[in-house]
Amino acid sequence: DTTDREKKYRPAYHHTPLYGWMNDPNGMFYKDGVWHLYYQYNPYGSKWQNMTWGHSSSSDLIHWNHEPIAIRPDGLGSIFSGSCAIDKEGTAGFGKDAVIAMFTSAGTSQMQSLAHSSDNGESFIVYPGNPVITLESEARDPNMFWNPETKEWNLVLAHALDHEMLFFTSPNLKNWTLQSAFGKGIGAQDGVWECPDLFQLPVEGSDEKKWVLLCNLNPGGIFGGSATQYFVGDFDGKKFTADTDASGNVVTKWMDFGKDHYATVSWSDAPDNRRTVMGWMSNWQYAADVPTKQFRSANTLPRDMKLFTQPDGQIYLASVPSPEVDALRGKLSASVSGKTVGKKGFDVSLPAANDGVCEISMTLDGKNSNDATITLSNKAGDQVVMMYDPKAHTFSFDRTKSGVVDFSENFPAVTVAPTFEQNGKVALRIFIDKSSIEVFGNDGKFAMTNLVFPNEPYSRLSISSPNGKVKVSDLKIYSIK
Ligand code: FRU
Repeated sequence: DTTDREKKYRPAYHHTPLYGWMNDPNGMFYKDGVWHLYYQYNPYGSKWQNMTWGHSSSSDLIHWNHEPIAIRPDGLGSIFSGSCAIDKEGTAGFGKDAVIAMFTSAGTSQMQSLAHSSDNGESFIVYPGNPVITLESEARDPNMFWNPETKEWNLVLAHALDHEMLFFTSPNLKNWTLQSAFGKGIGAQDGVWECPDLFQLPVEGSDEKKWVLLCNLNPGGIFGGSATQYFVGDFDGKKFTADTDASGNVVTKWMDFGKDHYATVSWSDAPDNRRTVMGWMSNWQYAADVPTKQFRSANTLPRDMKLFTQPDGQIYLASVPSPEVDALRGKLSASVSGKTVGKKGFDVSLPAANDGVCEISMTLDGKNSNDATITLSNKAGDQVVMMYDPKAHTFSFDRTKSGVVDFSENFPAVTVAPTFEQNGKVALRIFIDKSSIEVFGNDGKFAMTNLVFPNEPYSRLSISSPNGKVKVSDLKIYSIK
């Protein structure tokens, strides 16, 4: 039965560890054509413990090579999440272009430590002067980067229980000065704040640039448990200020509207000014109970970040599947160019050749008022029901009957995303990979990531409009190469 589940549920085109437990992606950097991905890894079992930095590398963000463990626990504790940066000027004294890792040493308390690599991130030497930051209360997941404008290092650290992010500066990565704190009373406040990231992006359709602060929190996510909120604002090298709405409040914004998207952070030094991220495709509510054992669990697809402005002036973050993902498209197994559907709707088969693995894309036009239902089903009676409601401007995903759901009371759920459109239309890309479904709407304006454990692969796609007429166009189903 375990082997059976291995075959049924191990993703075909998402990153997973060969065996053992994985949580947060961390320390990602790009150098010389290689995307490095590190992750919170327990090589000895299928539950959280003995944290090390596991390592995988890729030239295309899709096909991953499993590398030896990069950083192992030492006298200061186990190795929690953090970040990597390339020290181009050699400011830290580990040489020009050294890859520097900063992470949390989790022992009797949480302290911040450094390590450096002179073999492009294959192995790291921990700095004998560790820790470089100690604080009274829990602080973790250091995210540092070189700020070319202020010519110093910036660091964001999650002051976990205080629900705030701390901002530090340093000339050399070893001596840090606390400059400010952000977060008290702002945004979603439950649980703990973890895994920050801070980066600047252009705002689409303007000359403006804005800073984005990612703030993972757990529990207290939009659908319970873990989720990623973010703030858009300004950063002067010392202090982050979030944009407000017309009444002066900071709007709570979510990066993904599923239950299985957490600890998302970005690659440093990505080419072409890209800001590419990856998340952990699980939720602390049930990550240790999901019906897989050889591996727990998988990462999301890589996503590229963009900023777009809504009519009310608020700026939001779009998550677009990274362009590398397009190369996965294999044989076109179904194509419908235009069809208006009512209550009865129509059905198409999903590719049988690579069972449980495909990409579906389509545009739904609800003429501003008619809702559309998309159902994935199989002969075992499992079904996932998605619904686009153009009146409410929402897209929902119901996995309550998706297959094996009873391993946790928190697993059966309906998740809902705002569609961020004004014209009653939604363009969807849906990626199915054995035990996960990622939906991207309107070029990433919303993303939704949910795990599913069907008893057998979904084999049919049905589309209907329960209360009216909806136009389905450009429906394409691709098998995956
Ligand atoms: C987030 C987290 C981090 C921590 C790591 C430990 O999922 O709790 O804050 O560094 O996991 O594995």
